[in-house]
Amino acid sequence: MWNTISDKLRNAEKIVFVTGAGISQESGIPTFRGKDGLWRKYDPMKLATIDAFYEDPKLVWEWYEERRQNILNASPNPGHLAIAELEKYKSISVLTQNIDGLHQRAGSSSVYELHGSIITIKCTVCDFKNKITSEFLQLPPLCKCGNILRPDVVWFGEALPQDVWESAMVQASTCDAMIVVGTSLAVSPANLLPVYAKQNGAIMIEVNMEQTHMSSSMDLSLRASAVKALPELVGIISHS
Ligand code: APR
Repeated sequence: MWNTISDKLRNAEKIVFVTGAGISQESGIPTFRGKDGLWRKYDPMKLATIDAFYEDPKLVWEWYEERRQNILNASPNPGHLAIAELEKYKSISVLTQNIDGLHQRAGSSSVYELHGSIITIKCTVCDFKNKITSEFLQLPPLCKCGNILRPDVVWFGEALPQDVWESAMVQASTCDAMIVVGTSLAVSPANLLPVYAKQNGAIMIEVNMEQTHMSSSMDLSLRASAVKALPELVGIISHS
């Protein structure tokens, strides 16, 4: 069984990764739904929705600015680095739900940010949008046009960036192998991407510390951490 899977992975030309908060957990960035998850302490409906933002922009910004500083001080871990390394051997795309930019900082060159980026800031009114890594001293921060700025992230109830989503669906539907890492697959439409890959005959691998609702439909579901499993997986794939 494992020989068949490792042979298929070695022969795969196009490998797509779908990643979630779990791949950044070992970089010191909390997940949302795990035992220490953010949603255990905070109510997402009070912090990660457009209504919450307009109801209390200062509160929402205080939460995002704290996360932004933590993320800017975090580093990619061996899981992110292993995925970037694999680009030397295979065609790789990363479809990430994470907003932390760690895949790009690890060196991955084809990253689709399904839920946006906490490092990119945009105006709620004018077309200002830019990466800002300095700390905001005044919250909520204001645009030069005088209106409130917001993180360029997708809040609950908002649509994913259309171009990113359409490209992600194409990537998922045309890969030979999909490796799903550190996501509970609780949030749509991102959780449809493994379904598209499986429907198109990709070999399906999961890396997660816990079982998910798709674990049983994977060809291989590794109950391991990203930092432990990904360098080993990449070692097997790259020794084709
Ligand atoms: N290695 C591998 N997997 C891990 C690790 C680790 N070190 N630590 C945690 N996990 C797994 C958990 O078992 C869980 O299944 O990562 C998953 C994290 O799940 P969530 O916290 O739900 O994060 P995610 O799936 O990315 O959430 C999707 O929900 O709140 C929204 O927009 C937010 O993008 C986020 C989306």
